[in-house]
Amino acid sequence: MRIGVLTGGGDCPGLNAVIRAVTKSLLRQCGAEVIGIRNGFAGLMGEVPLTRPLDWDSVSGILMQGGTILGTSNKANPLASEASAAQAMANARALGLDALVAIGGDGTMAIAHGIAQRGLPVVGVPKTIDNDIVGCERSFGFDTAVATVTEAIERLQTTGQSHGRVMIVETMGRYAGWIALEAGLAGAADVILLPEIDYSVEAVARICREREQRGRHSLICIGEGAKPHGGALTIERQVADSPDPIRLGGVAHALREQLQPLLDSEVRATVLGHVQRGGAPTPFDRVLATQFGNEAAQLLMTGQFNRMVTLQCERLASLPLAEVAHQSRQVPLDHPLLRTARQIGVSLGEDS
Ligand code: F6P
Repeated sequence: MRIGVLTGGGDCPGLNAVIRAVTKSLLRQCGAEVIGIRNGFAGLMGEVPLTRPLDWDSVSGILMQGGTILGTSNKANPLASEASAAQAMANARALGLDALVAIGGDGTMAIAHGIAQRGLPVVGVPKTIDNDIVGCERSFGFDTAVATVTEAIERLQTTGQSHGRVMIVETMGRYAGWIALEAGLAGAADVILLPEIDYSVEAVARICREREQRGRHSLICIGEGAKPHGGALTIERQVADSPDPIRLGGVAHALREQLQPLLDSEVRATVLGHVQRGGAPTPFDRVLATQFGNEAAQLLMTGQFNRMVTLQCERLASLPLAEVAHQSRQVPLDHPLLRTARQIGVSLGEDS
């Protein structure tokens, strides 16, 4: 067998751990030849494919490295036209690929599904710090992002406390509030604002005022996709040639503007941005990514193609790519962590 491996979409901690595990598992168990495709699907779209061989030594020592040794692209989409799809399939044939392992988010799974429909067997491995892949209760990269945000919140807590300020910290996560929710709870935020629950500016101000009166600073953790009642998403930029052109960002500054006139304390905003995507994966993410990579190899070796590795009820499983493409998984409104937050007095920005 000759297997191609690529990483697509935005990077996240743990990608190299998957590349390592899938390669070692295939080399050791079936003697397959493993070929790394560089820069995501872009590596299959040029006149000449961009590759690098993946042998035992080239994947040794990368378990704990952030980023991806293969490079990635969140713009390249071979399905954008019939010509680019044909070019990608021709490159896959020229490389002699029997199958492809596509490691990525919902966009990458959608492309992988399209490639599979054109005849190249594919196995998908979900990745994202956002933890928003349908059918997968935990994606690697998420734990690391939560740890990074939690540390940032702790730092903002101490400086906020010194100055008696209202500190707002904005997390990534797109349209899902998983990072803000878990890191907000872990960092002892007073208010957690999520894309899933539109917030009341007055309700947030009320909490901060009550705390001001007790001489307390406040910490607000807000997901980038959150918005006020009747308000709109805060869009940082549009990336025209990306399959998902909207880049969220800046809602912390918008909230600062809304809150400041209602409070005596100074309100300050911090947007964490890509610091959440970088760096070494946590031990949890290293283990999960290693399991996902090995499971992808098992699916390949047993001919279970056009499926994505997943984690359901804490067990490894797989789902048809068609069921996960182009979708995202938000925090359900009856999620136990929301109940916990409310019951211990963390505000979710709701009118009480
Ligand atoms: O999907 C991962 C993610 O980091 C989101 O949380 C964020 O909105 C987006 O990617 C940022 O994308 P880019 O790196 O293209 O700005």
